Amino acid sequence: MTETRKKMTLPGLFKKVADGQPITWLTCYDYPTAYLQDQAGVDMILVGDSLGMTMLGYDSTLPVTMDDMIRHTAAVRRGAPNVWLVGDMPYMSYQPSVETAIRNAGRFMAETGCDCIKLEGGVAMADRIKGIVDAGIPAIGHLGLTPQSVSALGGFKLQGKSATLAKKILDDAKALEDAGAFMILLELVPDRLCQLITARAKNALIMSLGSGPHAHGQLLIYHDAFALYPKFKPKMAKVFADAGAVIRAGLEGYVQEVTAKTFPAREHWFGMPDEEYDELLKVLD
Ligand code: KIV
Repeated sequence: MTETRKKMTLPGLFKKVADGQPITWLTCYDYPTAYLQDQAGVDMILVGDSLGMTMLGYDSTLPVTMDDMIRHTAAVRRGAPNVWLVGDMPYMSYQPSVETAIRNAGRFMAETGCDCIKLEGGVAMADRIKGIVDAGIPAIGHLGLTPQSVSALGGFKLQGKSATLAKKILDDAKALEDAGAFMILLELVPDRLCQLITARAKNALIMSLGSGPHAHGQLLIYHDAFALYPKFKPKMAKVFADAGAVIRAGLEGYVQEVTAKTFPAREHWFGMPDEEYDELLKVLD
């Protein structure tokens, strides 16, 4: 537990990497989990639009709106005041134009208290990153498996496996860095491609989600790392604790005890003084 930790800052992230320490990053979507992650010393939280799947039960991230993102990101900020907080730009909140991107990034900053935003895409989205950064908002690019383009990518699968596709991701990373992204997330690309991009990055930190150990830090989806998403368990996610099993066992215990009338026990309710109860009965008579 880190009761008195200092607020993570942008220079703090770069210093951590310069000191040879990997950055720790998890997704999070709610106040109580944010509190635990802050207490555990997690450096960065992503309020991902994956909340459409993990919290709202959709089959993809596409139905998620800016209002959904704002509500969850503000709740996470209240629970985790010390982490570097990333708001994830949802589908069609930045693709239509640079101006749309700047307006929605501004909403994130003003209405949630997050520290920066993340958006998906490479060369084609570099002008959105530049516009947002020029507006004074730190920005993260996301390459490789980009869930908002899952239909075009042909499913949730490894990206950049061939030399040609790997070169395209390298070019995308360069374009994002040149546009001013301070960080680039590589999701599900081969480890050696991630290593190359990390070695070539000059001003951007490179993060890995399922892309191997050679990046400046690691991201995991919280629900994968704690076995809380019932539909799918990706190979890239280690389960650090089976919270799903713990909660299920607790729920079964609750159902059993209420059914058996062993809950509530005497310590779980409040009584009333005899004289007040007698008075009440008199009033009722
Ligand atoms: O929405 C999200 O959680 C993400 C991760 C998959 C990187 O964008």
